[in-house]
Amino acid sequence: MSKKLLKNERDPSILILDFGSQYSELIARRIREADVFSLVVSNFTSVKEIQDINPKGIILSGGPSSVYEDNAPKCDAKIFDLGIPILGICYGMQLMVKELGGEVTPAINKAEYGRAPINIDCESDLLTNVQDKSIMWMSHGDSINNLPEGFIKISHTENTLHAAISNKQKKLFGVQFHPEVIHSEFGMTVIKNFVYSISKCKADWTTETFLEETIPRIKQQVGDKKVLLALSGGVDSSTLAFLLNKAIGKQLTCMFIDQGFMRKGEPEFLMEFFDKKFHIKVEYINARERFINKLNGITDPEEKRKIIGREFIRVFEEESNRLGPFQYLAQGTLYPDVIESAGTNLDPKTGERIAVKIKSHHNVGGLPKDLQFKLVEPLRKLFKDEVRKVGGALGLPDEIIKRHPFPGPGLAIRILGEVSHEKLNCLRDADWIVRDEIKKAGLYNDIWQAFAVLLPVKTVGVMGDKRTYAWPIVLRCVSSEDGMTADWSRIPYETLERISNRIVNEVEQVNRVVFDITSKPPGTIEWE
Ligand code: XMP
Repeated sequence: MSKKLLKNERDPSILILDFGSQYSELIARRIREADVFSLVVSNFTSVKEIQDINPKGIILSGGPSSVYEDNAPKCDAKIFDLGIPILGICYGMQLMVKELGGEVTPAINKAEYGRAPINIDCESDLLTNVQDKSIMWMSHGDSINNLPEGFIKISHTENTLHAAISNKQKKLFGVQFHPEVIHSEFGMTVIKNFVYSISKCKADWTTETFLEETIPRIKQQVGDKKVLLALSGGVDSSTLAFLLNKAIGKQLTCMFIDQGFMRKGEPEFLMEFFDKKFHIKVEYINARERFINKLNGITDPEEKRKIIGREFIRVFEEESNRLGPFQYLAQGTLYPDVIESAGTNLDPKTGERIAVKIKSHHNVGGLPKDLQFKLVEPLRKLFKDEVRKVGGALGLPDEIIKRHPFPGPGLAIRILGEVSHEKLNCLRDADWIVRDEIKKAGLYNDIWQAFAVLLPVKTVGVMGDKRTYAWPIVLRCVSSEDGMTADWSRIPYETLERISNRIVNEVEQVNRVVFDITSKPPGTIEWE
């Protein structure tokens, strides 16, 4: 982790040292749910860096390794002498025990996975208000045999002798279970005990404090320079537009590139909303013909994506030259992306992050490596749910804040095979009906994504007395937490019936609707 990333910014109250746990991010989210700012940093973060940040508490995350393996990840053992409260979770606790002279061994025949009731052995600061016999989530193969000097056992389970430990005097604590996991009944109580009572953090990480701190910081960073933002209409870029508009007003130019693969009425809605209603300057770029012409004869999904990505860059470059020059590019990078790339891509002279990498799934599509804009990324410490709250506080309506994710290449990857005007119009109409009926049924906010896919094959049907030969539409509705895994949504039959009837009756060239009942994995959410 680079200190420069923290220059001029709020320091985290709780620092999470990451030992490779799949839950490290989740720990940070839970702590922020308690209105305390926390960041995940590498386990290599030095004691000097930690002292510079001066957190009120440190959490050592879990991890997949065993502490007695040769290359097991470690941290600087001097952190245990800093006087800063530390909570080790699973691997983090085992590491602390080993470093301080205790003993960790493989739990032969006693590995514990899943729910386990914990027995509270004595009163402690960490387990205050945690109910005896409550369920906590376990996932470990190793156990603690002997505690280091100064530690006591405060909880055990049937299979785990040391489910929680404490060294009150040195403010060092450990839990074998995962308090961050939702299935741990009193997990949040444990986290709050550590954060508030033990580490003495204040609940001061709120949307209001974020805005109070961020708006002047953006002003300071940008000065009197001009900023360009590629607006897609998604939650992140829309929130960013509102935030930057508030911070720097007319120095911001939003560019909306209409590649022709948007949903029905979307370009009009966005222009009306941002430009007319909120007076946020948006340059509308009509590039519809350019994009569809480039896709002429192209059927391979990856090739389609690449062509759309390349064309996006061309249009972006041409238009930013025409409208600019701009010194800054605003990006809606969020914290999960930064965790992976923290400390990289820094301009060695100024310490500012530069545009060398945008994730390929980013909504605006990939921008080229050699764009030498400086970056403004005020959302880069936020999780998605925090961005939604910021957007709401800035006045964005639910219509934008709660919208379903929509892929950068748009409807082009929901028309299988070659894209044509005719198919686009057909899919737009079907997609509109899907959204309309899902909203009318009150299901929109419970579903991650609901959309239509057009298949380039024809099937036989009969309408009135006439034989039809037309395309089928696939209905894809999924529930998900983050898009990484998903399950198909159990849509009520009546809603399915209405969607199917309306599509077949109202959309020309469609005579059949099928429902996709594949989870992810093995399927993906999109069809291409
Ligand atoms: P898959 O199809 O991989 O999609 O299961 C996971 C999530 O990512 C979205 N998605 C994209 N988003 N540009 C984007 O901005 C893309 O190229 C892209 N491809 C997939 C998809 O809609 C789902 O939410």
